[in-house]
Amino acid sequence: MQEMILKKRLFTPGPTSLPQEVIRAMTEPMVHHRGQEFTDLFRHVQQGLQYVFQTKNEVLILTCSGTGAMEACVANLHCPGDKVLALRGGKFAERWDKICQAYGLQVKPIDIPWGEAVDPQRVAQSLEEEPNIKAVYATLCETSTGVVHDLPTLARMVEPHSALLVVDAISALCADELLTDAWGLDVVISSSQKGLMCPPGISFVSLNEPSWDRVKSATLPRFYWDFREMRRFLEKNMTPYTPAITTLYGLNAALDIIQREGLEKVIERHARLARITRAALTALNLQLFSQRPSNALTAVQVPDGIDGAELLRLLYHEHGMVVADGQFHLKGKIFRLAHLGDTNERDVIAAITALEKSLLALGHEFSEGAGLRAAKMASSE
Ligand SMILES: Cc1ncc(COP(=O)(O)O)c(C=O)c1O
Repeated sequence: MQEMILKKRLFTPGPTSLPQEVIRAMTEPMVHHRGQEFTDLFRHVQQGLQYVFQTKNEVLILTCSGTGAMEACVANLHCPGDKVLALRGGKFAERWDKICQAYGLQVKPIDIPWGEAVDPQRVAQSLEEEPNIKAVYATLCETSTGVVHDLPTLARMVEPHSALLVVDAISALCADELLTDAWGLDVVISSSQKGLMCPPGISFVSLNEPSWDRVKSATLPRFYWDFREMRRFLEKNMTPYTPAITTLYGLNAALDIIQREGLEKVIERHARLARITRAALTALNLQLFSQRPSNALTAVQVPDGIDGAELLRLLYHEHGMVVADGQFHLKGKIFRLAHLGDTNERDVIAAITALEKSLLALGHEFSEGAGLRAAKMASSE
C-alpha cells in the first residue's frame, strides 16, 4: 500500500504558516531598493505597519530577526552605565536583561515566576525607589510561557516617570490587543514571522517623540543599527542599507490580508481560537500553564507519567503537527500550542484531534472525544 504523505502544519509560536497570497507575492521579480517600485512598496508597507501597531509614529524596518530589533533598541536608547528595569518572567524577557548587560547597563531585575504576569505595582514601587531609571524593558506576550502581561496598567505606572517603556510585542502583534499610542507605549518592537504571517528576517520598531529625543542624546556606539540614519532614509521611503526586499513583498501582501479582515476581527479570531483550544485541553485533563494566557499560544503542562518529547514526536510523525516544546527548565515539562497567524477553527480542531490520539496512545486518561466536544461547545458560545 502506498504510504500517505503527511501534510506538515506549524502550530509553533513563530515562524507561522504562510498564506498563499504571501507566498505568491514573494515570487515577484526583484526590484532595486533605490527605485520607484521599492519606494511605492515601502510607503504602502509603512501605512500597514502603523495600522497594526496602532500608532501615528513612523515604524522603522530592520533587516534582522526579533533579537536584532531588541539589541538595536538598547544601543539607540542609552549611555554607558544607564540604569534600567528588566521585567524577567520568561526566556524572552530575560533576553532584555542579557542584552542590556552586554551593553554595560546597570540592570535592576524584577523577577516574576514563569507562568505568571508582572504585578504593575511592583514596577511602580521600583520606579519610586530608583528615580534614575532610564527605561523599563517589558514583554507583551512572553512566548516561552504563553503569558500576556497587563501593558495598559504598566504603562500608566511608568507614565509619571521619566523612564521609557520599551515593549517586545514580537509574538503579540495581531494576536493580543496592542494600542501603542492610546496606551502611551514609548517603543514597541515586533517581527515578521509570527502574527504577520511572513518568513523570518525583518523586524520593526516604533518610537514616539520622547524616545527619539533619547535616541539623539544616547552615546552607546551604533552603526548598522543607527535609528537616526533609518529615520533619515524613511523620509525617502527607503532603508539606509539593502533591505530584505522579497520578505517586504510578502509583508505587503500580509498587511493587505490583515486590513481586509480588519485588525479587531483578527484579534477576535485569535481570542476565539485560544478559547476553543483551552476548553478542549482542559476537557482532556490537561493543566494550562499560564495564569494570564495570551491569544497567541497556549502553554500546557505535560501530565505526570507522560514523556513530553515522545508526545511531540508522535504529534509530528503520526499527524504532521509541529508543536513547540518548553524552553530552558520547562523543556519536556510543558508544550506550547500556537493558534497564531494564518490559523482558523479547522486547524485548531485538527490539532485537538491529533492531541487526543497521541495522548491516548501514551496512556493519558480522559474521556474519549471530550476534547472535540468541548471545542464544539466553546465554538458555539
Ligand atoms: C516574545 C519574543 N521576543 C523575542 C523573540 C526573539 O526573536 P528572534 O528569534 O526572531 O530573534 C521571540 C521569538 O520567538 C519572541 O517570541
